[in-house]
Amino acid sequence: MTAPIRPTTPTGELAAAPRRAALRAELEAIPRLSTGFVDAAEGERVVAWLDSGLRPGRPGRLVLEYPLLFAPGSEALPITVWSGARPVSFCMLWPARFALGGGTLRTALVSLVYTDPRDRGRGLARQAIARALREAKARELGLCLLWSDLDDFYASQGFTRAGDETLLVLDADVLARVRAGSDLGLDSGSGSREEPGAESSDSAPTRVERAGAADWPAIAALRARRRCHAVLPDEGAALAQIPGLDVRVARGAEGVVAFAMCGRGDDFGGVIHEWGGDAEAVLGCCAALLDDAGPGRGLLLLSPDEPSELGWRLRAAGAQRLANPLAWFELASLPALASDLETLAPSFSQAVRLEVAAASEAAAVGIELVARRTGARCRLSPPELVALLFSKPTESRAAAARARIGSIAPAAVLAELPLPLFVWGLESI
Ligand SMILES: CC(C)(COP(=O)(O)OP(=O)(O)OC[C@H]1O[C@@H](n2cnc3c(N)ncnc32)[C@H](O)[C@@H]1OP(=O)(O)O)[C@@H](O)C(=O)NCCC(=O)NCCS
Repeated sequence: MTAPIRPTTPTGELAAAPRRAALRAELEAIPRLSTGFVDAAEGERVVAWLDSGLRPGRPGRLVLEYPLLFAPGSEALPITVWSGARPVSFCMLWPARFALGGGTLRTALVSLVYTDPRDRGRGLARQAIARALREAKARELGLCLLWSDLDDFYASQGFTRAGDETLLVLDADVLARVRAGSDLGLDSGSGSREEPGAESSDSAPTRVERAGAADWPAIAALRARRRCHAVLPDEGAALAQIPGLDVRVARGAEGVVAFAMCGRGDDFGGVIHEWGGDAEAVLGCCAALLDDAGPGRGLLLLSPDEPSELGWRLRAAGAQRLANPLAWFELASLPALASDLETLAPSFSQAVRLEVAAASEAAAVGIELVARRTGARCRLSPPELVALLFSKPTESRAAAARARIGSIAPAAVLAELPLPLFVWGLESI
């Protein structure tokens, strides 16, 4: 057998070393993408790198801020782009299932999108997000949702803003007018307040207090009563530890009757982003949060864009209303979305079948709506379909989509739309 030819002289060995090093450098320059972490040590290394980029000077902060993502056994999927052994870009995909109406909407929330400053502009974040979309599709999650101000970055990747949310501006004057209207009196005592106007069934006054760890099961029960909510795993202990989260509960004789919470990590400063329960008692919680915000300060109350007693009373008291799109959306799996629609919008689903317009993975691919009875067809772009399903009918793309499909979908089936999707503060990672 012939021995492989290899340099035998010292000169040859020296010449080979730089070539090997150059080859290794070239290989390392090709980004490699991984999902999950091979072991806990790798996870800790990537999260420490993320902390240093997204929360500089605050090691360990992201794990505290996002307990649902980093808890052992979490369904969240970390997607990391590597350059050799170095993490260079990242995003997190979190499967979130929203209970709304009688059905479930399966979505993937994407967050913690980050590229190392040295490696920006090379398409790495785009690669990570494209992978998140493929993973969402593989997991039969119909939609990807995320929150960001980087309009051009996400719009150029096929994301579209859709859905609706409302912010009501709360200040001392508005609450005073609500109190005058409802005879709600607040008595600031030593850390708790009594609301003579907010009485539970046995006429005992309701006390507003800071929530303790033992209140979280009651908060979870009130959250679950809302028209739309994500089914969160193991609410409670971990959520209670989120830095910057200020939670108030209103307690009657039979326990917690309402809650409201403000702030969450580096997000939702000055925003009451989760609330629920008896409207009068929620107002008491909001008043307590406003009092503690300091004199002259206002707060925003995040709400679904739908009628509610709380919203109606605040509007009647002059609260200014700001309307925003809910989130950035992108279609991840049309079959999964169509299957969810069977229970979420049954008449629409019975009248219309959804098909991908062309066999293509391209983001701009169209969606065919096919009338089941007549076979008549109509094509919508993915943003138009998302607007039809989630944005109010007056929104321009939703209105255009409604006009376009009017010939194949009777008005009665469109009455099921938009779906009342709303994402509360603890859910929007
Ligand atoms: C935003 C970010 C993730 C982009 O990472 P990246 O790997 O450089 O992105 P890509 O190379 O895949 O894409 C670059 C594109 O993003 C755009 N982009 C990058 N940062 C941007 C910013 N702050 N605002 C608007 N667009 C931005 C670039 O203009 C470029 O667009 P082009 O391809 O049309 O030229 C990175 O800049 C970052 O980590 N920023 C800090 C953290 C952050 O803001 N995360 C987003 C939270 S949603």
